[in-house]
Amino acid sequence: MTAVGDGGSLRKGQWVLATPPLPRGGLSEQVAVPEEHVFPIPNAMSWYEAASMFITYQTAYYALHRCGRIQPGEVLLVHAGAGGVGSAAIQLGVAAGARVIATAGGPEKVRICQELGAETVIDYRAEDFVQPVKEVTEGRGADVIFDPVGGDTFDRSRKCIAFEGRLLVIGFAGGRIADAPTNHALVKNYSVVGVHWGLFRRLMPERVRKAHRELMHLYEQGAIRPLLHQTFPFDALPEALGLLAERKTWGKLVVKP
Ligand SMILES: NC(=O)c1ccc[n+]([C@@H]2O[C@H](COP(=O)([O-])OP(=O)(O)OC[C@H]3O[C@@H](n4cnc5c(N)ncnc54)[C@H](OP(=O)(O)O)[C@@H]3O)[C@@H](O)[C@H]2O)c1
Repeated sequence: MTAVGDGGSLRKGQWVLATPPLPRGGLSEQVAVPEEHVFPIPNAMSWYEAASMFITYQTAYYALHRCGRIQPGEVLLVHAGAGGVGSAAIQLGVAAGARVIATAGGPEKVRICQELGAETVIDYRAEDFVQPVKEVTEGRGADVIFDPVGGDTFDRSRKCIAFEGRLLVIGFAGGRIADAPTNHALVKNYSVVGVHWGLFRRLMPERVRKAHRELMHLYEQGAIRPLLHQTFPFDALPEALGLLAERKTWGKLVVKP
């Protein structure tokens, strides 16, 4: 941080990450940001790790702990486990003491999920995940399912969720918003839980600050480490966005203005 205004609690030179609100955004060499959008980070954290940390880990943390009430020993199924929020969810699930199953598209992403700590990984382009999840859980299904994909992935997830499971609706990367039949939720005793971290942040900013402190603690312990696909110079931004759209990336892509 190169300068601070009067009356704030931060100091010049402090190592921070900032989430500049639109219309300014973060793709600039320097930006003025209100203190409420600035978060202290450890000195050991690199700039590209800091850039990769915030929304993905905050979302996964909020989803797993507050929305999913995950408990040690429970089974967590993470879809698109090599993606931005998925890779954070695998690491945070392991850190919470859960047994983590992941799905991913293709052998390279499968390997990445294994390296992140998932004990079982299913290539959902090659095979359906329902039966493998049932086998690993001895027929019980997953207690918590983290779903950033939606569509068919959501529909199939309902087939392998445990009694009193929590099916977390994170996003719709697959392009279709699935319907959730309420009779199915009733007969199997599971919950479909919407996760909108941005609204949580707006309504409960102090909880977000607390989660940030806990995430930084986990980082310092080595329990979480942002997964970086690549850094790009500013001029290569269109290339970075193209790779993301083509599903050829894992973790985060960071652009250096
Ligand atoms: N609820 C919230 O508060 C919140 C917060 C942050 C993000 N999100 C949402 O979560 C979703 C994932 O975000 P992210 O940052 O993790 O994105 P990402 O890094 O691009 O990962 C998305 C992953 O989804 C999988 N996928 C499946 N079908 C796809 C398709 N048709 N096109 C593209 N990808 C597809 C891909 O993994 P495979 O190739 O392995 O299938 C891809 O890596 C987005 O919908 C985003 O809007 C929600």
